This record gives sequence, C-alpha cells and structure tokens, in this order.
Amino acid sequence: MAYVVTQSCCADASCVVACPVNCIHPAPGEPGFATAEMLYVDPATCVGCGACVTACPVGAIVPDTALTPAQEPFRALNADYFEAFPHRDRAPVALVPEQRRLRRPGPFRVAVVGSGPAGLHTADELLRHPEVTRVDVYERLDRPHGLARYGVAPDHGATRRVSRLLEAIEREPGFRYVLGVEVGTDVFLEELRERYDAVVYAVGASADRGLGIPGEHLRGSVAATDLVGWYNDHPDRRGLDVPLDAGSNPSGRAVVVGAGNVALDVARILTRPTDSLEGSDIAPAALARLRDSAVREVVVLGRRGPAQAAFTVPELIGLAGLEDVDVVVEADPELLCGNDPRSRLLSGLAGREVSPGSGRRRLVLRFGHSPAALTGTDRVTGVDVVRNRLVTTPDGTVRAERTAAASHLEAGLVVRAVGHRGLPVPGLPYDEATGTVPHREGRVEPGLYVVGWVKRGPVGFIGTNKACARETVAGLLDDLDAGPAVSAASRPSAALAGLGSTGT
Ligand SMILES: Cc1cc2nc3c(=O)[nH]c(=O)nc-3n(C[C@H](O)[C@H](O)[C@H](O)COP(=O)(O)OP(=O)(O)OC[C@H]3O[C@@H](n4cnc5c(N)ncnc54)[C@H](O)[C@@H]3O)c2cc1C
Ligand SMILES: NC(=O)c1ccc[n+]([C@@H]2O[C@H](COP(=O)([O-])OP(=O)(O)OC[C@H]3O[C@@H](n4cnc5c(N)ncnc54)[C@H](OP(=O)(O)O)[C@@H]3O)[C@@H](O)[C@H]2O)c1
Ligand code: SF4
Ligand code: SF4
Repeated sequence: MAYVVTQSCCADASCVVACPVNCIHPAPGEPGFATAEMLYVDPATCVGCGACVTACPVGAIVPDTALTPAQEPFRALNADYFEAFPHRDRAPVALVPEQRRLRRPGPFRVAVVGSGPAGLHTADELLRHPEVTRVDVYERLDRPHGLARYGVAPDHGATRRVSRLLEAIEREPGFRYVLGVEVGTDVFLEELRERYDAVVYAVGASADRGLGIPGEHLRGSVAATDLVGWYNDHPDRRGLDVPLDAGSNPSGRAVVVGAGNVALDVARILTRPTDSLEGSDIAPAALARLRDSAVREVVVLGRRGPAQAAFTVPELIGLAGLEDVDVVVEADPELLCGNDPRSRLLSGLAGREVSPGSGRRRLVLRFGHSPAALTGTDRVTGVDVVRNRLVTTPDGTVRAERTAAASHLEAGLVVRAVGHRGLPVPGLPYDEATGTVPHREGRVEPGLYVVGWVKRGPVGFIGTNKACARETVAGLLDDLDAGPAVSAASRPSAALAGLGSTGT
C-alpha cells in the first residue's frame, strides 16, 4: 500500500521530515519546493508506515486504498511526478535547522501589523529566538488569520484546518494580539517605532484589480475580493448586494472573469447545491441567499488557453470530482491535446457527456475569451465577449490578442476574479506598478520590514508565506545584531494603553 497526497499543500513539509524513507518530494531545499502546487509521494518506495499522515496538519495524505473516486486522479499525479523527477537520493531528511543566536542579549520587542498567514509565520520565526521576548500582532479586525479565515473557500474544510497551525503559534510564550486596532488609523507607525525594536508590515493586498472596460461599475458587477468576503462573513462585506434572485438575474447566469484559483472557488460556491455547504464555515446570511439563488449556469472566462490558466491542478481535480455540478470545458480542441496533467484533465472534461435534464447547475470553463464591455443601464444584463488568439512572444510568453469575433452572454452577475492589488501603506514607500512596498529581502530600512502579499504581491499559497517570513526575519535579526538607535530599556512600554483586545 502506498500513500497519496490529495490536495494543495500548506508547504510546511512536516510530512517530509516524518517520512523514514524520504519518498515525499520536492523537499525543502530541492528545486521547485518554493513554488510547488503540492508535494508528491513516490508509490514505488513508500513503505506505507503512515507517519506522514500523523504529521500533516491538514489531512492531505491518505492511503491509496482509501481514495474516493473524486481523489483517484491524485494516484497518477503523485506517480507521474517521479517519472519526471526521480529524486534518487532517499537518505531521510533531518530538517533540524541550526538555531541562530543573536549576539546582543535583548530583550527585543517586535510589532507585526496584520494577523494573516504572513504575520503569524513571522511571529513564529521571531519567537524561536529567546532574545525576542515579545511579539505584538496588531490586527484591524476583531478576528485574526486574514485570508486563511476570510479568503479560503468555506467548502475547503481541510485547508481551513491550517487555522490549527496558526493557533499553535498564538500559544507561544511572548505572543500577544492587539485586535480591532488599525495601524495608520488607531495607532501610527511612529508610535510603534518608538515602542518596538522593529515593525513588520504583513497587511496583505486587500484591493481588487479592475478590468478597465465599460460597464465595470454597474450594479451586479462585483469584485471577487468582495464576494469571497461576503460568503466568508468578513465584517466589511456582510451587506454586499449580490444579484442572485430571478428578479435581479432573469438570465440565471453568472460570469466569472479570470481563470485563477479564486475564480474556481467563486464558481464552485455559486453552483454547488446548498446542501453540500451546510455545516461548512460559510456565512449563514450568504447561505440563505444562495439557497434561493436563481443562477443555473456560471461561465468562467479565461483570456488565454487552458495551458496558461492560473488555477492549479489539485483545484482542477477537486472541481472535476464534484458530483453535484456539471463541469463543462469549452476550448479549441487543438489547445487541449497536451500530455501534461492539466491538459489531460481538461480534455477529459471537454469530452464528458452531460445530460441536459440532470437538474444540476452548469459550470462552464471557457478559454480564449475576454470581456469587452458589461452591458445594461442601471445594472448588468450581460457581457460582450471577444474571442482571443494566442500569440507566443520571442521570450516564450503566450499573450492573448483580441480578434474581431464577438458574442454576447446574458448575465445578471459578473464577478471580477482577476487578482488582488496592494494599497499604499501610510509612512511606507509604494511601487505603483506592482502594488507592493519596495524592499530588499523584506527590509524597507533597518527597523522596518514587510512580509507576505504586501512584500511579494498577491501570489502564492498559505505555506509560501513561511519561507517569505524566514527571509524577512533573517534581515531583521541582522539589524538587531547591528544595534538599535534606542536601547530597549529607554523605550516606553510596548503596550499602547487602552487599545484593542488581546483575545482570539
Ligand atoms: C479568495 C482567496 C482564497 C485563497 N485560498 C487559498 C487556499 O485555499 N490555499 C492556499 O494555500 N492559499 C489560499 N489563498 C492564498 C493565501 O490566502 C495568501 O497566500 C495569504 O493569505 C497571504 O497572507 P498575508 O498574511 O500576506 O495577507 P492576508 O491573509 O490578507 O492578511 C493580512 C491581514 O492584515 C490585516 N490588516 C490589513 N491592514 C491592516 C492595518 N493597517 N492594521 C492592522 N491590520 C491590518 C488584515 O485585516 C488581514 O488580517 C487564497 C487567497 C484568496 C484571495
Ligand atoms: N486553493 C488554493 O490553493 C488557492 C485558492 C485561492 C487562491 N490561491 C492563490 O492566491 C493567489 C491569487 O489567486 P487569484 O485567482 O486571485 O489570482 P491569479 O492566480 O493571479 O489569477 C488571476 C486570473 O485573472 C486573469 N486576468 C488578469 N487580468 C485579466 C483581465 N484584464 N482580463 C481577463 N482576465 C484577467 C489572469 O489571466 P492571465 O494569466 O492571462 O494574466 C488569471 O487567469 C494565487 O497565487 C492562487 O494560487 C490559492
Ligand atoms: S500540507 Fe504540509 S504536511 Fe501535509 S502533505 Fe502538504 S506539505 Fe506535507
Ligand atoms: S506512508 Fe510512510 S513511507 Fe509512505 S510517504 Fe508516508 S511517511 Fe513516507
């Protein structure tokens, strides 16, 4: 019996360390680990000991005998990886990183702004050093964990279990929350710099990217950042106007623009029967609205081809395995003939028989099309769509180029899922082109740092923030060793009296 990884990973690699025969790859330090969509078990050398199952915090690994039909494609996906990357060295990995000791004894205090995965992994990295005795995490909301709480889809229960990892960090001695306090509004950077030896911004990338087309601001055109917050009960998004009923969405169709993982999340939540969402973390008010939804079809519009789609293979397998939604693929057949896992899956979906009278909702993945305009007067009634052709540039990049072939899709709801964008942070420099804070390996200047999406831009998985935090903290520790401008003893106490709550 071999074990199989069955979903995107948190990338903490606990499984790799636990495995006695080093058959889970790519491992930390190996090429591809930092950007891996998931890790893979080599069925040829797995001895079936189950140690990785206990180690994995999100339940991603199962024995091959327990794979559900929907998980079955992961069997070949795990095995195929080793055809391409054999990783012949199977000496067990002993990931015991050398513990750095600061030259100066401290005690040092650090403020982290933002309690998402990047902020908490930063606190974790810092508190491994006894010289850092206090990390205060400031969070503008009353509840922590950023997009791990308010972004990850409610029907992704296993991924949402990553909150357990974050809660373990909260229990570390020296960790403290200051919840319900927005830095830049309730407290200012200068005040933090007076009180702490270093300040790390982990504020994410909270804005949406626009499409820049006519009609984008009509009622019924919604940013995925808002819709995701709405179904995840984000306090800023509870009253969102989402036209789902037959009166405001007579066509019964929604269009999701973009072909990333967020687009798939949104399309899934809009199409799945509400029975399958009962008992999940979905906001009760959103569930009630979805229960009465008149939407029968969701069209996901990818501007380039299937091979260039931004969604990941594990997410596509999850979608293809849904029994309560009819998933349909529309793309030129010649774009679906690749022999990579994504093309094979998509071409399987394109050839799948779908019975028109099934009563299930349809989720259409349409590639090679862009929206040209949203139509309607006071609210969205449809989308003018143009067909694109794919052009390969000399550097190998594949671009979408609009053709004259146009069509129209009636729709009462258009969700713009074309990525996030970071906003300027008061007191910090800002790169308008990338929506990030300019930095060198996380250092903005000595004493001031960035981590996570505000540092790298809005890409990557929850686990990507762990390596990102390690890099930022390494520079921060170098600066503490180099010596602060003010000695800790002469600083005011770290706590800002009367601010926020400290609970979780
Ligand atoms: C819709 C969606 C679904 C996703 N699903 C997955 C998934 O299933 N699996 C996966 O691996 N990855 C997923 N990701 C990616 C993952 O969520 C991100 O990699 C990660 O959350 C980025 O972490 P961060 O800490 O930089 O930002 P965030 O998670 O956005 O955290 C930023 C925090 O800072 C707080 N904040 C902002 N400004 C201030 C301020 N001025 N003062 C105080 N606090 C402030 C915010 O309230 C927030 O809590 C998803 C992303 C999105 C958008
Ligand atoms: N389960 C998970 O692991 C999970 C879930 C959700 C999010 N995440 C991660 O979170 C990050 C953000 O995800 P995301 O989906 O928001 O962003 P993303 O991965 O950057 O995808 C954005 C999509 O929008 C398209 N797009 C951009 N501008 C467009 C335009 N003007 N017109 C039409 N299409 C346009 C992009 O197409 P082009 O490629 O052509 O630019 C791409 O398909 C990603 O790294 C993602 O993997 C992970
Ligand atoms: S989630 Fe973490 S422990 Fe689980 S399989 Fe992925 S890397 Fe390994
Ligand atoms: S079951 Fe044992 S041998 Fe197989 S991948 Fe997991 S830890 Fe390694």
